[in-house]
Amino acid sequence: MAVKQVGIVGCGQMGSGIAEVCARAGYIVVVSEADEALLKRGLASIEGSLARAVSRGKMTEADKATTLKRISGTTSVEGFKDCQLVIEAVVENMAEKRKVFAALDQACQKDAILASNTSCLSVTEMAVATKRPDKVLGIHFFNPVPVMKPVELVRTILTSAETIATARDFSQSLGKSVVVSPDTPGFIVNRLLTPYLLDAVRLLESGTVSREDIDQAVTLGLNHPMGPLALADLIGLDTLYSISTALYEEFKDPRYAAPPLLRRMVLARWLGRKTGKGFYDYPKVKA
Ligand code: 3HC
Repeated sequence: MAVKQVGIVGCGQMGSGIAEVCARAGYIVVVSEADEALLKRGLASIEGSLARAVSRGKMTEADKATTLKRISGTTSVEGFKDCQLVIEAVVENMAEKRKVFAALDQACQKDAILASNTSCLSVTEMAVATKRPDKVLGIHFFNPVPVMKPVELVRTILTSAETIATARDFSQSLGKSVVVSPDTPGFIVNRLLTPYLLDAVRLLESGTVSREDIDQAVTLGLNHPMGPLALADLIGLDTLYSISTALYEEFKDPRYAAPPLLRRMVLARWLGRKTGKGFYDYPKVKA
């Protein structure tokens, strides 16, 4: 099936990035949010990211205008009725995601593919909320979406080969490199990344090492673009907490248990870059 129009449910950090790369690749994009205010904020963040690309000489003003014209917003699931592919990027909460999938199943054409950008939750559990589990998969992007090359396609035991083939073609058309993972908690990247990030929080919590030394040691010692605490702030501490909780629930392995400091930071809404405060301060962001 040829994908021409793509729907994105949720226009937060990940949803806005996915909408941007789809529109830049030439797709007609519909994004949804729960209300007009959130939608306005999401669309503004896409425009801001495109403006940044123009200021860095990666895009012309004319291309920016053309890209923005391809994107429209909706607050209703009916807005996705003409999409061949819809990607869900709402909060990492299974009950919410299952509601979204059930509603999409009702509203979308019967051969449309429904995907989740979940970082760790079971795609099978979302698929069985629909009457088309063979057309449901995970398409997991990485943050920042416009920069990061990989996409993990998550294939459940119910996903058809045709669905994977369409999703692979689509992801490659965005300039992404595809890896395929089974529907296992955390898939490939977050399964490996999470214990490492949690260990960095535990090290900080021990009070023996500063945040700067942890991050600098990894940046220089392992040649990573950023240290684990800065990366946790980029991902979002609420997202890291949800991923660790989901992994811990499945495996009951203490490696995945969220350290008390992380939980308390999430309770305090110190969520990292998106709220202006995490392990570091981001004074330009309005809390
Ligand atoms: N949107 C668009 N472009 C961005 C961007 C954003 N949010 N942030 C950075 N960029 C671009 C810049 O425009 C710049 O491009 P240019 O060199 O062509 O002009 C380039 O990226 C480098 O940016 P900066 O010079 O501003 O900053 P850095 O060199 O420090 O790079 C970074 C920033 C790209 C974020 C880099 O530090 C990095 O790659 N960090 C690691 C990110 C990572 O590991 N992401 C995966 C997280 S795990 C995940 O997402 C899974 C989820 O499920 C949790």
